[in-house]
Amino acid sequence: MERINAMITGVGGYVPDYILDNEEMSRIVDTSDEWIMERIGVKTRHILKPEQGRGTSYMMKRAVRQLLYKTQAEPDSIEAVICATTTPDFHFPSTASLIIGELKLRNAFGFDMEGACAGFLYAMEAAANYIRSGRYKRIIVCGGDHMSSMTNYQDRNTCPIFGDGAACVMMEPTTEEVGLMDGFYRVDGEGYEYLHMEAGGSRNVPSHETVDKRLHFVYQEGRPVFKHAVTKMSDAVERIAKRNNLTKDNIAWVVPHQANIRIESAVARRIGVEEDHVMINIDHMANTSGGTLPLCLWEYEPQLKKGDKLIFTAFGAGFTWGASYLIWGYDGAAEAAKSPAQFYKEGEMTREEWYKLRAKNA
Ligand code: UT7
Repeated sequence: MERINAMITGVGGYVPDYILDNEEMSRIVDTSDEWIMERIGVKTRHILKPEQGRGTSYMMKRAVRQLLYKTQAEPDSIEAVICATTTPDFHFPSTASLIIGELKLRNAFGFDMEGACAGFLYAMEAAANYIRSGRYKRIIVCGGDHMSSMTNYQDRNTCPIFGDGAACVMMEPTTEEVGLMDGFYRVDGEGYEYLHMEAGGSRNVPSHETVDKRLHFVYQEGRPVFKHAVTKMSDAVERIAKRNNLTKDNIAWVVPHQANIRIESAVARRIGVEEDHVMINIDHMANTSGGTLPLCLWEYEPQLKKGDKLIFTAFGAGFTWGASYLIWGYDGAAEAAKSPAQFYKEGEMTREEWYKLRAKNA
């Protein structure tokens, strides 16, 4: 019997129209464009403003609508939706249930997966194994976060880092030599003290006191997180590269979590991959947590060719981390050309405007 594997057959994405640049950031906290660019590499970030009354499901829903359009998949053919997010609209019901309900995916089940910034890697691995079982043919994997909803805009150590956005991929079976080939995933539980949100869960329930103490925001100690991120992502990438005979000469793309340009460069250096083979969009997307990896695919889709070897890597709160090896399965340029302007409603950027902004910030 032929071996069934799971491949990515389409990408959709969405970012909110509001752009918070470093100049505005410098008016909010004591910082500067120079410091942020040098230490983090972020120029602008997209923000889903609170007064819009929308959550992560809104961004994912927009991304999924684009995906359905591009792949021409019938909504009734979708069997599952898995959402990697740390900022669900509600504790319950799940973000997946809101997307499934609103888009009328009548034959789908779904759930949220909380792996912080590494969540998309875990969700992709889960979806791939559902498909490899032979039981499922079409699964949508979403990754995205409404990071501004838990960013403390009084804390200059964290607020320049984060942005909002979501993207998704379709996963389907294949018997060709493409798709998700290998993965290395870990959680150590040691990261809690350096990166967490203190209140709002079942241990420290929300109260006036937790709000007054500003405990509903991201708490991060940057330096130890930075150190662990470089070490653990590099280690995961090296393992995956070694056991799959991947070298700088045959890796088409490294797709790193967009946490800090210095982290991304350090990881690429460790395996000797040149920077023009590393997907980078932190300059205009910032850290969208579960959204960074699929948003990279969304933007780089036009450059992806069938047979390209990709290594994904991510690191997040927990600590959670890992790396995946995937062989790209279709001509990205042809699919990206289908990206329809009508999905960008009034006031939102078109993909062309998007690239212009990116070139301006280069
Ligand atoms: O996605 C989840 C995983 N997260 C990460 O991977 C993030 C990892 N950490 C980082 O990316 C970096 O540690 C940060 C970007 C968070 C911070 O950069 P850093 O180079 O580690 O700076 P630092 O925290 O060591 O601070 C250096 C100095 C401090 O001043 P002093 O004490 O040396 O006088 C800070 O007060 O920079 C100061 N500083 C700032 N200055 C201007 C901190 N934030 C700012 C700021 N603007 N926004």
